[in-house]
Amino acid sequence: MARRYQSKLTWDDVTPERLFLNRRQIMAGTGALLGAGLIGGRATAQEALEPNTWEEITTYNNFYEFGTGKGDPAANAHTLTTSPWSVEIDGLVDSPGTYSFEDIMSDVEVEERIYRFRCVEAWSMVIPWNGFELADLLNRVGVQDGARYVAFETALRPDEMPGVNVPVLDWPYREGLRLDEAMHPLTIMATGIYGREIPNQNGAPMRLVVPWKYGFKSIKSIVRITLTEEEPPTSWNMANPREYGFYSNVNPNVSHPRWSQASERRIGGGLFARREPTLMFNGYEEEVAGLYEGMDLEANF
Ligand code: MTE
Repeated sequence: MARRYQSKLTWDDVTPERLFLNRRQIMAGTGALLGAGLIGGRATAQEALEPNTWEEITTYNNFYEFGTGKGDPAANAHTLTTSPWSVEIDGLVDSPGTYSFEDIMSDVEVEERIYRFRCVEAWSMVIPWNGFELADLLNRVGVQDGARYVAFETALRPDEMPGVNVPVLDWPYREGLRLDEAMHPLTIMATGIYGREIPNQNGAPMRLVVPWKYGFKSIKSIVRITLTEEEPPTSWNMANPREYGFYSNVNPNVSHPRWSQASERRIGGGLFARREPTLMFNGYEEEVAGLYEGMDLEANF
């Protein structure tokens, strides 16, 4: 029988045991920030990871299919029809096909994950997502030998998406992950925020969240997932390969060609809030650094 890719890691493997924190905090926390906060006594872990408000999360973001302004998605995304919804899963899988949103949801386990979210534009939030591990879905359709990458595509509906009539990007929006990144237990498909259905502007009904990568890797309103042998093209890399690489791991030591990535502005911090230092892999270094062992992170930005 053919060997199937199986992620051997589970959530327990990547989560350090912290007896004094409850599960919600464990999901949000990682060694670096928690350690610094608790030992240094400057800020408690809880302060550091206080989630942003529903209002902040749902009114300030990017979804260029609905315009390039930060308020455009909230103003315009109501036109997106999210039900019925289906996702085509194809390429190197045992069971290719078109899966309805309901079928997918009936097979997976949805849980809450409070993650730091770092946009490439140097703003950040903390978001309490509800979602399921992407690995769960991929294992159900059966990843075949030879698959090394996962490609994702957003819906392309000119009638419902005013932004796609403007050629800011080569539509549909496309993203990709290496298979081991896609199978990592931190990588989720989000379907909710604060226990409520995910709003259209945040990528309804199903969007990717890869918390150690810049926000643009977290592609919204996904209609297609393809398992490939070759590294797939991605929208931002196609638009500007000098500025946006395939990996796009959060890295305070590698500047964007036009600005530093060493610090970030936390949305909701108020007008005079200090910028916070950006953490390697967005604070998830302990969990994901192993994926990039031996790789030159400046060359593979
Ligand atoms: N997905 C699609 N389809 N189109 C987009 O324009 N923008 C990305 C990402 N996913 C984008 C997308 C960028 S740049 C960011 S920062 C996040 O979505 C922001 O959205 P969020 O705050 O809802 O995560």
